[in-house]
Amino acid sequence: MRNGLIVPLCCYIFNKMKNTAAILLAAGKGTRMKSALPKVLHPICGNPMLSYPLEILKELKIRPVLCVVGHEADLIKDDFREAAVDFVIQSPQLGTGHAVTCAIAGLKGFSGDLLILSGDVPLITTDTIKGLKKAHGRGKKKAAISLVTARPDCPAGYGRIKRDDDGNIATIVEHKDATTDERQISEVNAGIYLIDSEFLKKNIKKIKSDNAQGEYYLPDLVSMASNAGLRIASYNCKDTLEVMGINNRVELATATKIMRQRINTELMLSGVTIIDPENTYIDKGVKIGRDTVIEPGVHLIGETTIGNCSTIRANSVVESARLGDDVTAGPFARLRPDTIVKKGARLGNFVEVKNSTIGQGVKAGHLSYLGDSVLEKNVNIGAGTITCNYD
Ligand code: UD1
Ligand code: CA
Repeated sequence: MRNGLIVPLCCYIFNKMKNTAAILLAAGKGTRMKSALPKVLHPICGNPMLSYPLEILKELKIRPVLCVVGHEADLIKDDFREAAVDFVIQSPQLGTGHAVTCAIAGLKGFSGDLLILSGDVPLITTDTIKGLKKAHGRGKKKAAISLVTARPDCPAGYGRIKRDDDGNIATIVEHKDATTDERQISEVNAGIYLIDSEFLKKNIKKIKSDNAQGEYYLPDLVSMASNAGLRIASYNCKDTLEVMGINNRVELATATKIMRQRINTELMLSGVTIIDPENTYIDKGVKIGRDTVIEPGVHLIGETTIGNCSTIRANSVVESARLGDDVTAGPFARLRPDTIVKKGARLGNFVEVKNSTIGQGVKAGHLSYLGDSVLEKNVNIGAGTITCNYD
């Protein structure tokens, strides 16, 4: 009965997003990161920042996705060459309004809604997008523009939401343009919008750049809608960290911590014991079976998979390795890429393995380097053994 209810409801929500295209903004330089790497390629739990909003769009089945790139565009395109996304070049980068102008050139004939996300807001969830969609409405009651708002502890840097006496959103004023009074406003623009494409196409060219940054601000569409008496809707995101824009490495560390908590929580709920989740570092996409125990200080990196009932003991590092059921590794084990560890194998303290197959029931208890090797079933490796290029 329950499943029967859940499935049609999910389908209903997905179908509602059908006539929606997405624009993902990622052309900015990310000056505040002080980095040679473009901001959206900085990793969060092993995956580039940009992969997270792309994942959300994939989950919501939103197509097409136009990703606006500019600064180091080739690096970004190369990293995402296999993703279902069309890249649009914005050069030079004249602001978020200009970025969207560049993107809509690729959407001729499209008349639905445009979901606009920022490449530097990686913690956003599908629930928030669904909340925005609901606020946006449908048919005659549909808003011209809808946006996600939040009340972060520190609103500095964000655009502030100005409401009229009736509580309707009237305009957004960017932090750099805001007066001291306006900077006291705690409600901010999260940079996530759902916009009627007809309204957008008609008005985007009217955006001017006479502001503190000399940029074309996308949020200026809000005052245009307000002046035209059109409906503006908003969805307040209670979890202020979810809509946090990553502009510097302090925010990057905060976002990484939250993502790590999400990954660990999901694994624990699926049957994995994580002794100290605050001190366990698991990349997005790592797969772990039931009743496996992960001790503190462990790093599970890249495309690692671990079977059921295994134990990864303290301070071990496992990178893109495949471990079967009932395996024990560590403490202080290091399993490097292309390592396969079969059922029941025991790798003890200070054992390093690279590009090797460790057969079922193998024991390597202490201080060994096993490289480019194939170890058959039940082999026992004495302490201090080193093998390279050995078969
Ligand atoms: C923007 C919003 C602000 C909001 C905040 C939320 C504007 C003018 N301001 O400010 O109201 O509170 O996001 O995080 O939109 N980008 C381009 N091309 C450009 C400029 C930017 O693609 O020419 C991209 C950036 O790569 C980034 C996103 O747009 O992914 C936002 O740009 P950013 O410069 O970070 O804007 P904020 O100052 O954070
Ligand atoms: Ca930003």
